Amino acid sequence: MEKLHNWFKPCLHDLLDSPSVQWLDTLPGALSHWYQSAAASDCLKYARMIEQLPALQTDDIDLSSAVRIGTPGQMSDADQARTTSLLKKLMPWRKGPFSLYSVNIDTEWRSDWKWDRVLPHIQSLKGKQVLDVGCGSGYHLWRMYGEQAEMVIGIDPTPLFVAQFQAIKYFHGPAPVHVLPLGIEQMPVLNSFDTVFSMGVLYHRRDPIQFLTELKNQLVKGGQLVLETLVVDGDEKTVLMPTDRYAQMRNVWFLPSCDALCLWLSRLGFTEIKVVDVDITSLEEQRQTEWMTNQSLKDFLDPDDISRTVEGYPSPKRAVITALKK
Ligand SMILES: C[S@@+](CC[C@H](N)C(=O)[O-])C[C@H]1O[C@@H](n2cnc3c(N)ncnc32)[C@H](O)[C@@H]1O
Repeated sequence: MEKLHNWFKPCLHDLLDSPSVQWLDTLPGALSHWYQSAAASDCLKYARMIEQLPALQTDDIDLSSAVRIGTPGQMSDADQARTTSLLKKLMPWRKGPFSLYSVNIDTEWRSDWKWDRVLPHIQSLKGKQVLDVGCGSGYHLWRMYGEQAEMVIGIDPTPLFVAQFQAIKYFHGPAPVHVLPLGIEQMPVLNSFDTVFSMGVLYHRRDPIQFLTELKNQLVKGGQLVLETLVVDGDEKTVLMPTDRYAQMRNVWFLPSCDALCLWLSRLGFTEIKVVDVDITSLEEQRQTEWMTNQSLKDFLDPDDISRTVEGYPSPKRAVITALKK
């Protein structure tokens, strides 16, 4: 497990000197427990692939307009072929894109488009402690670091995504940007992050009120919550609970209207609640690519009416909501 411990040691080290130092009371125990899990065995296999990637170094990194590490001219054809073949073993790549020297990981999602919708509406991240709950491959973590956050921690329980993050970090090199293989329910109450993001997770939670409470529990007083989730049209009494699948996803529980979501946040004691963006997910933003060859949004919509999912529900519409902890 030494290999995997090396993934998380820098985070434990950075936490020591941070406002979240209290996490160290429980985190080493949670990780020791995780090392015994099937998810950790999967990650160990991925770690063996990642360590075979070429060891390149560059200062030519752009995290403010993209996630780009190196330039095509800095990678040999042989390294390009080896990198492509190893990273393809970590498919499906859902969140990105990532540009690593001459390898462009064209992911299922244009996560950069989501970031472009979110960024104009959030408080400056400069010098901030940031948490991203359900960070996936960590695309947005790098963009948060590109906005000069002091430390960025993502949590995500899916082993493949934790490994994808480590593959990108392998090319980037050491940085106060970390992913821990945990779910939000495994976090102690820290009250220590200036900004807490959670994008694309609320509808996967069986208890959205509990989930929002858990997010609030990580914020400092006055800290900002940045929430992005699927919504439906309607008033504050409107919440869609699919009878079974939604857009073929099995694990979708609650799709509130924006007004209902604002009411939930207000009842939980958030202030300055603002719906800053509402957007229908386009077939260009979520699609099949060479790096994600499974079915994608096009296959989840009614072919005769793409304003409906194959189950007959309204097609995915996503809102970004910001709020402050009182
Ligand atoms: C739809 S993806 C969103 C990824 C990214 N935040 C984005 O907006 O592109 C949802 C993520 O939530 C993660 N997730 C599921 N349950 C979670 C939990 N209990 N705590 C934290 N993350 C969770 C999944 O592993 C998945 O990576």
